[in-house]
Amino acid sequence: MIRPRALALGLGLLAASACRDPEPSGLDPDDRILDPATCQECHPDHYRQWLGSMHAYAGEDPVFLAMNERGQRETNGELGDFCVKCHAPMALELGLTTDGLNLAEVPQHLRGVTCYFCHTAESVEGTHNNPLALSGTRTMLGAISDPVANDAHPSAYSALLDSSTMESAQMCGSCHDVVTPADVHLERTYAEWQESFFSDIDPLSGGPAVYGLRCGSCHMGPPVDGPIADAPGVRADRRFHSHGMVGVDMALHDWPDAELGPQLRAEQLERIEFQRKSALCATICVSPADAGGSNVDIYLHNEFAAHAWPSGAAQDRRAWLELRAFVGDDAVYEAGVIEDGTPVASVADDSLWQLRDFIYGEGGETAHMFWDVRSVEGQLLPASEILSPMGDASTWRVRRYLVPDDGMDRVTTRLRLRPMGLDTLDDLIATGDLAPGWRDQMQTFDVAPTVLEWSEAEAEAFDGYGTCVSSSNVCGAPLIGAAPPG
Ligand code: HEC
Ligand code: HEC
Ligand code: HEC
Ligand code: HEC
Ligand code: HEC
Repeated sequence: MIRPRALALGLGLLAASACRDPEPSGLDPDDRILDPATCQECHPDHYRQWLGSMHAYAGEDPVFLAMNERGQRETNGELGDFCVKCHAPMALELGLTTDGLNLAEVPQHLRGVTCYFCHTAESVEGTHNNPLALSGTRTMLGAISDPVANDAHPSAYSALLDSSTMESAQMCGSCHDVVTPADVHLERTYAEWQESFFSDIDPLSGGPAVYGLRCGSCHMGPPVDGPIADAPGVRADRRFHSHGMVGVDMALHDWPDAELGPQLRAEQLERIEFQRKSALCATICVSPADAGGSNVDIYLHNEFAAHAWPSGAAQDRRAWLELRAFVGDDAVYEAGVIEDGTPVASVADDSLWQLRDFIYGEGGETAHMFWDVRSVEGQLLPASEILSPMGDASTWRVRRYLVPDDGMDRVTTRLRLRPMGLDTLDDLIATGDLAPGWRDQMQTFDVAPTVLEWSEAEAEAFDGYGTCVSSSNVCGAPLIGAAPPG
């Protein structure tokens, strides 16, 4: 039996599409098929998860809006649609914006990376800067080849939206790879994935290797068995893919409103923390130093991100190692101890180990903004290029700290992570583009696997390494044969 609610909605959609002249793109901005709230009717869980994702937030992000505004001003508008092409692709497609400066006037449901955008992406010709072409029709593309009919939309299979295919990685990846107008390959998530073993091809089938993983395999998985729509006649033997799609970044404010916002942010944080648990491995090894005191060697490895760590907006990330060495309760050595409100850039400390992209302008000066960048120096944890049981030994990174005190009996570490540098925010505040209040919303996280403690009693001796502790039994630098420093 068809429920009245679903039927009414279906008729509403037909009516909306029948009585208006289409826009040049073939789409009518008032068509309810473009509004995620329409999808919510039958796909409430997909909607809820998407609403709490950075995709829904992409056109709301106050830092994005501030940066785009400044970029348009400083380039005399030459930036054009560069930023909105990825952050508000439907608004651009519909001709409602050309440069993003008027996004506040664009209906909210057309601002971010919406359901309609991904689910009508029909072809992709390129590897960066969003080369996706939309069908312009009402047919929702997905991974299901025998969809149950419904009143709201036709459905069809597309390899671009099936995370078991290589094509699906190109769909996600081509938006997650940014080449700036000055031809700098600034964000490289897709390229990094392509270089990793996760993108290997199976020589027999020509499809993905059995051990391979695409963007959706990790960021939308693992799938949950059960119906994927709340509508008449749906099947129970479907698989539901998470649309929360978390990475490192978080919404800075209560989006979409004060009531739902806090819940969505809490859910987003939970997803981020869960995903991060498997991202990295770390080892601390301690050995006597020739000149007295101790060598404290910190090893880090990208275990389960199929691209660099950090990736994407790695020029905006601030990730650094905090290390403290103790004699009893007294800290005898510290590196990278930075207060939560203090910019990393303001700390003049040679022993500071940072993981991120350093970006420079035309004269080699430190840059903060996309359009100023002329060169990038990546100091990232790379994804392994070759498959080996516990990761390619050459992809481990190590730093040696010399702790002067002989009586040292305890060392603690944590890799700290700020989605966006306070120096970059301060730069936007200084030009009046960003309201100062947003700065206080930027959080600093501890990367779970790197929160470690070495003590004489707990550590295990390894030839050539000293005595070590690792974040897990199976993932330690001595076991995998990472090269010790020097
Ligand atoms: C009236 C209810 C209803 C509405 C509204 C609705 N859907 Fe669906 N949708 C369904 C049903 C039913 C299926 C098929 C489920 C099945 O086969 O198990 C489906 C399937 C899908 C699929 C899978 C297609 C495939 O072949 O893989 C996608 C993607 C999808 N919907 C997206 C959307 C989006 C995006 C919106 C909003 C624009 C939307 N739906 C609105 C009921 C609806
Ligand atoms: C093997 C699982 C896996 C695959 C495959 C994968 N990722 Fe990730 N990705 C991760 C993990 C884990 C993190 C989170 C790191 C953290 O929070 O510390 C991450 C982080 C990210 C981030 C946040 C960027 C940052 O600052 O580090 C983005 C964006 C992202 N992934 C996009 C993609 C895209 C696009 C693809 C496909 C080209 C992809 N991922 C493939 C596991 C994966
Ligand atoms: C960033 C792109 C993207 C956005 C935005 C997006 N989806 Fe999806 N969606 C996908 C992909 C990819 C799949 C298929 C995953 C697979 O099967 O491997 C999918 C699958 C689905 C399915 C099929 C069932 C399932 O869980 O696999 C439905 C229904 C669906 N999406 C609805 C929605 C709705 C509703 C929205 C908005 C509220 C939305 N999607 C937003 C990419 C997206
Ligand atoms: C239209 C371009 C576009 C497509 C297609 C797209 N994304 Fe995104 N994605 C974005 C933008 C823009 C953001 C960041 C929004 C922001 O932070 O303001 C984002 C954010 C993310 C994040 C969160 C990053 C972080 O650090 O918090 C993940 C994870 C992600 N996308 C994964 C995917 C996956 C998986 C797919 C494919 C199913 C996909 N994206 C397809 C544009 C896209
Ligand atoms: C090719 C698509 C693309 C283009 C072009 C693009 N972005 Fe993004 N943007 C993304 C994706 C994807 C993310 C999420 C990446 C991640 O989390 O690693 C993102 C994240 C962001 C963020 C989130 C905060 C952060 O950590 O950086 C800001 C701000 C931002 N972009 C601003 C801009 C501005 C301003 C422009 C234009 C000068 C722009 N973007 C152009 C895809 C794009």
